[in-house]
Amino acid sequence: MDGACEFSENDLEQIRQATRVPTLEHYRQIASTNTRAIMAADEAALPLPALILTDLQTAGRGRGDHSWWSAPGALTFSVILPRSQANGEFHGPRIALTVGLAVCASLQQLRPGLEIGLKWPNDVYVQGRKICGILVEVPPRSPDRIVVGIGLNVNNSCAQAPHAVAATAISLREVAGYSFKLAAVVTRVFCQLTDHLAALARADTTLPQRWQTLCMLSGRRVQVQTGQQATVGICHGIDESGALLVETPARCEKCVSGIVTVLTAQTGR
Ligand code: BTN
Repeated sequence: MDGACEFSENDLEQIRQATRVPTLEHYRQIASTNTRAIMAADEAALPLPALILTDLQTAGRGRGDHSWWSAPGALTFSVILPRSQANGEFHGPRIALTVGLAVCASLQQLRPGLEIGLKWPNDVYVQGRKICGILVEVPPRSPDRIVVGIGLNVNNSCAQAPHAVAATAISLREVAGYSFKLAAVVTRVFCQLTDHLAALARADTTLPQRWQTLCMLSGRRVQVQTGQQATVGICHGIDESGALLVETPARCEKCVSGIVTVLTAQTGR
């Protein structure tokens, strides 16, 4: 399918018109759109929001020291925004969760009826497998801006990915059985992203309700690793501050950062 693995000049023009984004950078291939976005954010006069897009990302970065695997047909892009557009502060998990909701809304529009969930704090899952990773960063020299990086498995084959990815990931094409136009997907996600961040900035109370509803960890026994500290217990969802609620034998802990491992399937809540 034309436009399923790369962006034509026509696709880029359509994205410009549909998103009205004042800055669009497109690369046939780049190491990491987030790394490029962090550099670009240092240009004070850069018109925002800026969209950095590639056909193929070769050294994608994930949270911590994780990498992000991509192949032709995957959608990898970053958006540079003024921090004021996302509530003025860097709210730890709240921004990533809001971006996650924007991705969920986009996927539900593209493929209604998807079995979709948020894995706190920054992943989107479909049918129990990871379809999207989100990396929110503050450029060290331009802390008045944020970079939102999104890796979305659209037309790539996760089944043919390296073993660790193949065992846990899925793409939209693998779910739907047909390919999607990348330009249409990125346009939809970008528009949902700006709408959702605007909702965060005006303290829209439906956002916490939605991340609580979509929390796929609720009712499961989880381990949250934060540095050297491990919190183990039953997850009770995500509160309005974006913290993951974990009931340990001693108390209900509010985890604000960390890597989650699911220890058991859902309990009968
Ligand atoms: C994670 O799962 O830990 C987050 C993965 C984020 C990947 C995206 S792809 C576009 C952008 N550029 C990167 O190098 N990373 C993000």
